[in-house]
Amino acid sequence: MFIVLLSPMALLPWFPGVASGGEAAPSLRSLASPLELSIGTCVNGRTLRSDGEYRRVLAREFNSVTSENGMKWRAIQPRRGEFDFSRADALMEFAEENGMAVRGHTLVWHSYNPAWLEEGEWSPEELRGLMREHIFKTLDHCRGRVYCWDVVNEAWTEDGGLQKGTVTGRSGSVWPRILGEEYVELAFRLAREADPDVKLFYNDFGFEGMNAKSETVYAKLKASLAKGVPIDGVGLQMHVSLDDPVKPEELSANIRRLGELGLEVHITELDIRIKEPATEEDLRNQARLFSDYLRVCLEDEACPSFTLWGFTDRSSWIPGFFEGYGSAAPFGRDLNPKPAHGAMLEVLRERLES
Ligand code: G3I
Repeated sequence: MFIVLLSPMALLPWFPGVASGGEAAPSLRSLASPLELSIGTCVNGRTLRSDGEYRRVLAREFNSVTSENGMKWRAIQPRRGEFDFSRADALMEFAEENGMAVRGHTLVWHSYNPAWLEEGEWSPEELRGLMREHIFKTLDHCRGRVYCWDVVNEAWTEDGGLQKGTVTGRSGSVWPRILGEEYVELAFRLAREADPDVKLFYNDFGFEGMNAKSETVYAKLKASLAKGVPIDGVGLQMHVSLDDPVKPEELSANIRRLGELGLEVHITELDIRIKEPATEEDLRNQARLFSDYLRVCLEDEACPSFTLWGFTDRSSWIPGFFEGYGSAAPFGRDLNPKPAHGAMLEVLRERLES
């Protein structure tokens, strides 16, 4: 009973997207679902709408989705008090049609906020009210359709300060600037009040291995839990560079200690960027890392969810943000699998057979 409650995977079909009439080749999803592993990817709303091949591979390979941008504040409340759930609805409908779980991303962040929010002259009281309204409306709309939320995204820096974000002409986003550290705890308490059943996550980058930031985030989460802040889990983003990857053994140690705090640990945004042009050796090394990270997650019961930040190089944020880098996903621009895909299938197969 406990497992069923914890795992959205237990409720989902195993073999969706099987080609009619023929023997289905194994997909990530077909092997992960019997293991009750959420195997997910972020989804670009525009590509989902326009690209049938993208939709077909997405439904075949994954049993969990995250909206890349469509559930962020700027998408949901572009003008004050005007809520637009069309992008969120499109993804939730696709997920429901294809028996997929939805991870919610994200309620409070210092980025991708509408100008009216970032440029307003808010008193702390007004800003708390805006946060409350946004969280309540969003959780209410998505109730029962989104099983967990990244409530707060990227709050802390490695020295324990608040991540300010870059907002033109200001010394940081409204949340840290006007509310200070209080905003993190407030967001979790409001989310719990708005929906007692949804799982609440803190999501961040750069603290996946053992380093100064992972010490800080661990200490912050521990202190928050001791104060009764309702945090159910932690998301390790894992935007990795092949030049300097997160060490699998450090990831494993970090997942273990976060799990010992009683937290669920999700890999939320994995991609492994390569300096272009990617060589065959690069792709083999990338494949090894994807499979090592997946193995680490499968080996720890605290880690039931493994999500990529995009599954195909056809639709990837990497080239736009890291000049000269790309090839970060396990499927190419042509949507054919790269070595990383086969390497992850192999890990899932091993696990099923063990
Ligand atoms: O849609 C507009 C387009 O109309 C306009 O012409 C163009 C000009 O800049 O911008 C387009 O919007 C961009 C949007 O992505 C859609 O592509 C935004 O400028 C750009 O800021 C936005 O970037 C997203 C970024 O978060 C900020 O929200 C990336 O797609 C998205 O992959 C990235 O995801 C984040 C996670 O949420 C949190 N962790 C890090 C991760 C990677 O940065």
